[in-house]
Amino acid sequence: MDITTKLQLADGYQMPQQGLGLYKVTDQDNLTEVVKTAWDTGYRLFDTAQMYQNEAEVGNALQELGVSREDYFVTTKVAESNQGYDATLASVEQSLKDLQMDYVDLLMVHWPLHEQFFDTWRAFERLQAEGLVKSLGTSNFGMIHLQYLATQANEMPVVNQIENHPHLVQPELRDFLRENNIVTQAWAPLGRGSVLEEPVIVEIAKKYHKSPAQVVLRWHLANGTSIIPKSVHPQRVIENGDIYDFSLTIDEIIAIDQLNNFTRISQEPEQVYERGGQYPHH
Ligand SMILES: NC(=O)c1ccc[n+]([C@@H]2O[C@H](COP(=O)([O-])OP(=O)(O)OC[C@H]3O[C@@H](n4cnc5c(N)ncnc54)[C@H](OP(=O)(O)O)[C@@H]3O)[C@@H](O)[C@H]2O)c1
Repeated sequence: MDITTKLQLADGYQMPQQGLGLYKVTDQDNLTEVVKTAWDTGYRLFDTAQMYQNEAEVGNALQELGVSREDYFVTTKVAESNQGYDATLASVEQSLKDLQMDYVDLLMVHWPLHEQFFDTWRAFERLQAEGLVKSLGTSNFGMIHLQYLATQANEMPVVNQIENHPHLVQPELRDFLRENNIVTQAWAPLGRGSVLEEPVIVEIAKKYHKSPAQVVLRWHLANGTSIIPKSVHPQRVIENGDIYDFSLTIDEIIAIDQLNNFTRISQEPEQVYERGGQYPHH
């Protein structure tokens, strides 16, 4: 296993297990720098979203690499305001223009919303049939949303990107996803930095001469989870990729599991679903 390791998706495609998260990376020079550093380190997956307002900058950074399109994997996500059949189709057309691409590898519904729930997905299936999107995914979907989706979907998502870190372990949802051939991808895999001072993690890091961030990322890999840590610092992008020369014991994995305290960085998906949007935050 190394940074180029790929996970098999249920639709026949493969996805790199590790990628670079790009939320809040908007400055073109910085974005170009971290994408180049990530590429040189071996990352092949880049995670953006309409909501991040950086698809054009991500497209520029990837163009600058000067490599073949099929050598990297791009995920984007349809924002809440673009849900619905026609709006989804139009917004993805715009995303592709901004990204300067003919297709994205993975398109996600960013958050489940009760309104237009099935219409949005119908647009996803059409985009896939037209070849504009290779794989279909969801983000922030709970079991209930996936079960509901299954009542009308022709194609089920092959990846569900969820908030997942040692303070929000979600073993039941991860098991459900595995049983249904849906890959779990962790957003905020580092808990946005909030888990890095946990004494349990600091101790394990000392033992392996690794950083707390590297230990947390290794814990995700032990669970078979896909990870997309974000950093605006090239050195940290390199550090976060340097996690393939050690592994955790079962006891260490369990000790990190036990740090779970149900703390969320973002909204509870069911509330977003009911309210009809992630924003405004309360
Ligand atoms: N689907 C969704 O709803 C959703 C929501 C949120 C995020 N995401 C995706 O998931 C990606 C990752 O999540 P995230 O950005 O929220 O959080 P994260 O990756 O868990 O953490 C990023 C934070 O940790 C810091 N950091 C990174 N590497 C570090 C290291 N080695 N040592 C110490 N600190 C480090 C970063 O600071 P610096 O940048 O200053 O280094 C940043 O503050 C996002 O970028 C985005 O692509 C998706």
